[in-house]
Amino acid sequence: MSPRLRHLTTLENLPRATIERLLDRAETLRDACAHGTRKLNVLAGRTVLNLFFEPSTRTRTSFELAARRLGADVINFDLGFSSTSKGEEMYDTLHTLEAMHLDAIIVRHRQSGTPDALVRHAMSGVSVVNAGDGNRAHPTQGLLDALTIRQHRPDFENLRVVICGDIKHSRVARSDVHALSALGVKEIRLCGPASLMPEEDEFPHGLRFDDFDQAIANADAVIMLRLQKERMDSIELPDEAAYFTRYGLDQRRLALAAKGCLVMHPGPINRGIEIASDVADGAQSRILEQVGNGVFVRMAVLDEVLAR
Ligand code: NCD
Repeated sequence: MSPRLRHLTTLENLPRATIERLLDRAETLRDACAHGTRKLNVLAGRTVLNLFFEPSTRTRTSFELAARRLGADVINFDLGFSSTSKGEEMYDTLHTLEAMHLDAIIVRHRQSGTPDALVRHAMSGVSVVNAGDGNRAHPTQGLLDALTIRQHRPDFENLRVVICGDIKHSRVARSDVHALSALGVKEIRLCGPASLMPEEDEFPHGLRFDDFDQAIANADAVIMLRLQKERMDSIELPDEAAYFTRYGLDQRRLALAAKGCLVMHPGPINRGIEIASDVADGAQSRILEQVGNGVFVRMAVLDEVLAR
């Protein structure tokens, strides 16, 4: 058996068995919930800190719900009212909060590498879980995307998965690729304008396309990404109408994919920019299922890192 994780900062180089264990655990929790078990007590008496330095809707709330459903206490660190706006160093903030006897820190930060820095600075016995750092990693999103695909198409060795959009700035794309390649997905296709593609040596994965019609041909799942303008410099910013024409997912394009192709998006979605409303809300959309799976995946991760 692969060793239990103490922290989760990235999926890169995680053994397939570890990823499968987390997905299996998430599935067991999902089944238990479907049969009426909403709340478990496995983390009773433990304290989880949500430390979010970037805005978040679904990730933060689903981590909070996950921790509460396992019986843990949750502190939400609200930046607006915190002393970081008074210039306090992040590590002073960390140690102040740690003095309140934390068991886990869930962190989101615009700077890539922050979760690993916290692993080095955190008191021993405190687990760190990455909820998204810069463009580097978003491991629970990678897991929940893999779980959503597995639920419909467990035959990973036959699958063609397209990730389309602003790959360059996307931690989701990176964690998806790490998860899906570890799980043996046959073909991962990355599609987007050249200006929004990472350098090959920085990201030597997947088959690259700049034509979305070609990329989506016979695909079994398509993961659409938002233009992450907050991470772009002005020259990278595409014209939105022109972008939709070339890289938007509409019904015509979806018809080029394999029958029943799963339509996915980590959210927040920008309707009419990367995805048409009728596709986002359509029969093939798994977007809300992804949100639901996020809670179970985060329960599985917290259970893994905090189990005694
Ligand atoms: C993603 C993120 O924050 O990286 N969103 C999320 O976690 N649901 C993707 C994005 O912001 O576009």
